Amino acid sequence: MAIIGNPKYEERINHHLAKYETKRSAVMPLLYIAQEEYGWVNPEGIKEVAQILNLDPTQVKSIAGFYTMYSEKPKGKYWLQVCTDLPCALKGADEFHAWLKEELQVEEGGTSADGMFTVEHVMCLAACDKAPMLQCNFHYVENLDQDKMRDLLSKWRQEAAGASNGHR
Ligand code: FES
Repeated sequence: MAIIGNPKYEERINHHLAKYETKRSAVMPLLYIAQEEYGWVNPEGIKEVAQILNLDPTQVKSIAGFYTMYSEKPKGKYWLQVCTDLPCALKGADEFHAWLKEELQVEEGGTSADGMFTVEHVMCLAACDKAPMLQCNFHYVENLDQDKMRDLLSKWRQEAAGASNGHR
């Protein structure tokens, strides 16, 4: 597991490096890639991002620490952030969030025993008319119900199994 030399990320890394005038400006998108690979922004990911951008790892670490969208502790492969702010709550988000934790047997902020899913609640994600909704690794999934969510969980489990067998 690495981001440097990993064909899965090569195109995206090159795309970000080409997009900015100075390499160091690509630090945030590269940190997202590191988080995607490792499930959190871990020391290896920080070192690799620093190496790609010719920065000192401590500089990269301080940027990761400043922004809440980077996790500095391990998370599941799929980070499920359920919006439970008031407009969503009025459309059943609290019940959905409670059901999801029960379904995955996790506490708030916890990770499922198989390491696949971390569930936490968040404030408004600006998709209030599409509740219940969540973001999974920063992609919005909207108009959820229990059936749709069960299908998604099974799809993500299959995806992860495919990826670990080397055929995505
Ligand atoms: S309150 Fe949930 S997206 Fe706005």
